[in-house]
Amino acid sequence: MQIFLIVAVSADGLIAQSRDQVSTRWTSREDASWFARRTKKAGVCVMGRTTFQILGRSLPERSLIVQTSQPTLLAKSHVQTKQLEEAGDWHRQEGATEVITTSLSIPELADRLDKSGVKELAICGGASIYTAWLKSGLVERIYLTLEPRLFGQGMSLLTEKLNLKLKLVAVKNLNFNTLLLEYLIDL
Ligand SMILES: NC(=O)c1ccc[n+]([C@@H]2O[C@H](COP(=O)([O-])OP(=O)(O)OC[C@H]3O[C@@H](n4cnc5c(N)ncnc54)[C@H](OP(=O)(O)O)[C@@H]3O)[C@@H](O)[C@H]2O)c1
Repeated sequence: MQIFLIVAVSADGLIAQSRDQVSTRWTSREDASWFARRTKKAGVCVMGRTTFQILGRSLPERSLIVQTSQPTLLAKSHVQTKQLEEAGDWHRQEGATEVITTSLSIPELADRLDKSGVKELAICGGASIYTAWLKSGLVERIYLTLEPRLFGQGMSLLTEKLNLKLKLVAVKNLNFNTLLLEYLIDL
């Protein structure tokens, strides 16, 4: 299973002005459509509980896995949400829209999804989820959208000190102002 991170940052490296901010309020329309295209191709997305609650909905045609220490509580508060630990022999159905909560550790979750036949996994934030997956050493690629904004203060991409080397493998304009950078983690 290939695992990639997908994120939009301001020109000063921030992912939000405040914790309760919805990213699509400040990112470009082209980034939203890139995010939808790339994550639909992967089919399975991972998000932290905070980002999921800010988003407040499922992602159409994708399996959205929400990491939380209280999966039962979250599953109860959202209609049509199931818990991975109780979903038995879960396999993704092509085109399915579903929300699945889990408290599995990152290595356990990656192993479980891999064994379920997931080929690609999109890590969709927020900061604590990006940090934890990067620390796990399982992420291979980062898609980073650079939006022409300066926030000065806000949430940075990472919550902890890390020292990873990246290799830039592609640069693309999503629109005249917005760049999409594709990096491989340089192991
Ligand atoms: N610009 C972008 O591309 C982008 C993308 C996504 C999000 N964001 C922004 O990021 C911000 C939210 O980031 P955040 O760091 O505060 O929250 P987050 O990463 O979305 O969620 C944090 C929560 O996830 C759960 N969690 C984290 N690590 C876990 C683990 N290893 N195992 C199980 N559960 C785990 C915990 O939930 P419990 O407390 O329930 O245990 C934790 O409180 C928002 O402002 C959002 O808009 C920006």
